[in-house]
Amino acid sequence: MGPRPGNDSKVPGATLRRNAPADGEVPPHVTAPSTPVHLLGISGSLRRGSYNTALLRAMRDLLPNDVTMDVTALAGLPMYDWDLEQAAGFPPAVQRLRDQVARADGIVFGTPEYNFSVTGALKNAIDWLSRGPDSPLDRKPAAIVGVGGGSGTARSQAHLRQILGHNRLRVVATPQVLVTRGTERFAEGRLVDPDVAANLTAVAARLVEIIERERRDPAPQVDGNILVVTPRRAAADRIARHLAERGHRSIIVDDAADAIDLLPARRIGAIVVDPGLPSTGRADLRSAAADLPFVETVEPRHILDALDATFRSHVTGV
Ligand SMILES: Cc1cc2nc3c(=O)[nH]c(=O)nc-3n(C[C@H](O)[C@H](O)[C@H](O)COP(=O)(O)O)c2cc1C
Repeated sequence: MGPRPGNDSKVPGATLRRNAPADGEVPPHVTAPSTPVHLLGISGSLRRGSYNTALLRAMRDLLPNDVTMDVTALAGLPMYDWDLEQAAGFPPAVQRLRDQVARADGIVFGTPEYNFSVTGALKNAIDWLSRGPDSPLDRKPAAIVGVGGGSGTARSQAHLRQILGHNRLRVVATPQVLVTRGTERFAEGRLVDPDVAANLTAVAARLVEIIERERRDPAPQVDGNILVVTPRRAAADRIARHLAERGHRSIIVDDAADAIDLLPARRIGAIVVDPGLPSTGRADLRSAAADLPFVETVEPRHILDALDATFRSHVTGV
């Protein structure tokens, strides 16, 4: 996000002031949820003056009353060591963090970029949190924000998204909060850039939407990747984004023959097929897929409902 000429809110010491909205334009805000939502902000930086911790605090200050947020840094966690875990279970600082994550309805990660990736501190915390059958990360709604360097943490956010996908978190896909040049965005530890503030608000709103949706309608469990078969690029992108936000990994291929080739090579948990594909290809794929859940639609909203119904019928036999 580049600086904008004439924006006096970047003057050191200035306080955050939203741009006046144009006539008829509604400024971004987080709609109050139907029941209170509690978020946990986890900063990947251990630095006292961390811009990423400051960014999370700025997000906290923009939330409506029914959305609360604690911000935590990761000081005091030992390095993950399997021997240590086997001998003594989770050390107290790790257990405290696991409890904080379990209590939260959603997590916001504030990630710096170190050497094109996430910090060791953040990766180590996720390694601890990911352990055990009761990992508090499992299917937790989450958002990623970050301040740092020339790319505004784009590379570390991409890596973090991959790590969180492995732990099945439901991560907000867009908008992204990629903040460059921390020195210009913060004054005395406070955010002074209204564009960044608007972006934070938009991401928080999306996260609260995902939390509310998960409460109403928990997504089905799929054991493996969802194989999506469609030659329509735009539909494929929409589907992949929709599934990723619900914690599912997808593999997209253009036609039924490619899909059949992939079946033995990749762990596929369900198949979604474009009903516009030739019927012979669809029939071949259905028989190659044996009893994998199989739905024919490219409408993202229908995919998980259809898979859910398929899973129920698999389990109940109805
Ligand atoms: C060890 C180290 C490696 C870094 N590597 C990168 C990098 O690869 N890309 C980048 O954009 N910034 C890099 N930076 C800059 C940090 O992302 C930037 O200083 C950021 O503000 C640190 O986050 P914090 O203010 O929350 O502590 C690096 C900084 C350090 C200390």
